[in-house]
Amino acid sequence: MQAYRASILHLLDDPTANAEGAVAFHEDGLLLVEDGHVVGCGDYDELAPRLGDTPVEDLSGHLITPGFVDTHIHFPQVDIIAAHGKQLLDWLEQHTFPAEAAFADPKHAADTAAFFIDELLRNGTTTALVFGSVHKVSVDALFAEAYARDMRLIAGKALMDRNAPEGLTDTVESSRADMQALIADWHGKGRLGYAVTPRFAISCSEEQLTMAGEVLTEHPGVWMQTHLSENLHEIKETARLFPDARDYLDVYDRFGLLRERSVFAHCVHLKGEAFQRLAAKGGAVAFCPTSNLFLGSGLFPLEEACSHGVKVGMGTDVGAGTTFSILHTLGEAYKVGQLRGDALDPFQALYLATLGGARALDLDDKIGNLAPGKEADFLVLDLAATPLLARRMAGAKSLENKLFALTVLGDDRMVSRTYLAGVERYRR
Ligand code: GUN
Ligand code: ZN
Repeated sequence: MQAYRASILHLLDDPTANAEGAVAFHEDGLLLVEDGHVVGCGDYDELAPRLGDTPVEDLSGHLITPGFVDTHIHFPQVDIIAAHGKQLLDWLEQHTFPAEAAFADPKHAADTAAFFIDELLRNGTTTALVFGSVHKVSVDALFAEAYARDMRLIAGKALMDRNAPEGLTDTVESSRADMQALIADWHGKGRLGYAVTPRFAISCSEEQLTMAGEVLTEHPGVWMQTHLSENLHEIKETARLFPDARDYLDVYDRFGLLRERSVFAHCVHLKGEAFQRLAAKGGAVAFCPTSNLFLGSGLFPLEEACSHGVKVGMGTDVGAGTTFSILHTLGEAYKVGQLRGDALDPFQALYLATLGGARALDLDDKIGNLAPGKEADFLVLDLAATPLLARRMAGAKSLENKLFALTVLGDDRMVSRTYLAGVERYRR
């Protein structure tokens, strides 16, 4: 058994739905881990009798939280983060497609995968739902790196058989074969999962979307990820390409792509009735504030989505997103809320980054908090990592106030250690 003594903060439920029982905080806490799983989490005084002769790692002065869940990120876009230019469709043409073309090369894919996974861990992200490029080898490389670290990670090769440059498209039959091979090789291996990944409606023919739905029907445990209702020009072009669809969500729904384990990035311009349809079928949304601000896409209506019962997680959306840090992403989510007149509550923010993300991915039986039985994916945070944060924390009286400052001022510097299934995989 391993034992860690520190302050511990995690969410047992959605604080907006369960104000009383959602937040668990142990000022002087003890976390007990065995065989990669949490076996105890609570006040030190209460759990200390269970220690026996287990040595306790004293991390007093630090804060233990669950690892962060990133519900939307692009692995082959690492090198075009912070690319100056226009909005979504031009940004894809100018920056994204040329960068992704390089991932046909297995060596480039492998090198970038190692960097990408290290960067996730450096930022405290322990689970991610990831877009690969159109190339099967990009996803093989990413899975291999995640598997080597026993990381819980879901990924898929992008489906794109039209409206993309030559060399960056697949076909219905090649993409079906690639997906079948990736599912056979990786889905359920270690803590990995496969996601059928139509890039977005514009880049997929009806035949390819039909095939994607068929693969999901054959493999009900597989995930689905795509982009939805991000940018006004994209929405207009989608309506032109799919004149029979009722709306953008319906394009995916009519091909069987809206179901449990379906995660839709952005949904910035979705309205009440569509959120209802999305929630009714068990779909989830990845809220990506830094990307939505960077590309000028719009302000995600978080409160409205939640009020319709939609599952929401946080996404960085690197490379349109401007950070790997989920902490920094929460600070930007707060600012998006301010521009809409809804101030995001700090506990709700931490929920979205952890248990909310786990629920969005249908993994909340395994990850999302530090309840006994969960996989021991956790972080040791240093709330005095910078002089400014230390000073701000010293003046903060309440836990809520401290957590808020952490989300607004926080980034990778606060992450002292990252543990995957009880094993330290990063130390600052
Ligand atoms: N829509 C289709 N592809 C992409 C992408 O790579 N990034 C973002 N933000 N939106 C997309
Ligand atoms: Zn994206």
